[in-house]
Amino acid sequence: MLCETNKELDELVEEARKYTKDGQVADYIPALGKADPYDLSIAINYPDGRCVSAGDVQKRFTLQSTSKVISLALVLMDRGYDEVFEHVGMEPTGDPFNSIAKLEKMTPAKPLNPMINAGALVVTHMIKGNSVQERFDRLLSFIQQLANDASIGFSEEIAQSELETADLNRALCYFLKQHNRLNEEVEDLLNLYTKQCAIEMNCLHLARIGMVFAMDGMDPITSKQLMPKEVARICKTFMVTCGMYNASGEFAIKVGIPAKSGVAGGIMGAVPGKFGIGIFGPALDDKGNSIAGMKLLEMLSNDYQLSMF
Ligand code: DON
Repeated sequence: MLCETNKELDELVEEARKYTKDGQVADYIPALGKADPYDLSIAINYPDGRCVSAGDVQKRFTLQSTSKVISLALVLMDRGYDEVFEHVGMEPTGDPFNSIAKLEKMTPAKPLNPMINAGALVVTHMIKGNSVQERFDRLLSFIQQLANDASIGFSEEIAQSELETADLNRALCYFLKQHNRLNEEVEDLLNLYTKQCAIEMNCLHLARIGMVFAMDGMDPITSKQLMPKEVARICKTFMVTCGMYNASGEFAIKVGIPAKSGVAGGIMGAVPGKFGIGIFGPALDDKGNSIAGMKLLEMLSNDYQLSMF
């Protein structure tokens, strides 16, 4: 994909890069610990096909939680609104992404939203297909369409590294299974979920996907409606209320853009009706969001008045 480097963006990246020193790369998934904490890149994809960027935008990273918005879109198309929200709620938690605390307090047990791990596991469980492989292939192919690149794949190394260390997610799954939210083998679901999280791309791809969400599910460059407008609307709403976990309120005030983070350092932004943003900055703050990526979005939003509020 062609993308012009942009001087103003470059200056913002260099300014925001200073904040990387206050963050740390995730290492609870051991293979993610190899990332370079000083990396920071951004791409902005416009509906007319223009793209501007700064930083090393070719660097690939895994989607991690950024994938949760996309699996939600697929599952809403697979199963419809009523079935999906019978099993997962719509409320922010104010807790970390991997917390089990509120799950136990809900009767019946139902994850509060699809962006926390418990909710995302339930969503991934609902991806239709006859096998883990078929469900993964459907999700991957949807992501390839959204990013308009059939070469997108996943990192076996990172998927395996997460699978071997995912005991907290395993615990969430067993809890959910006990409460009849899951009716498949926990290891099968974790296998699918860790592959989903290990889908790999660069921030040019992520910006393109953000642009499709920003344009209500339509890819104006290929003239394909890749998801119904209603599905894109629901996903963007979750990005605002829960996309940055227990930093979502502050992010809405300071940035005001629907966005979703991942622990590999990605942030996907969707500025409604305008453009998509892809950011990669693997040094994270204590809530698991890209520390310099958040700062970069804040500066961008202030400079160009991007807040939707
Ligand atoms: O399940 C996990 O813990 C990871 N695969 C994804 C978590 C994540 O990206 C949280 N985001 N900031």
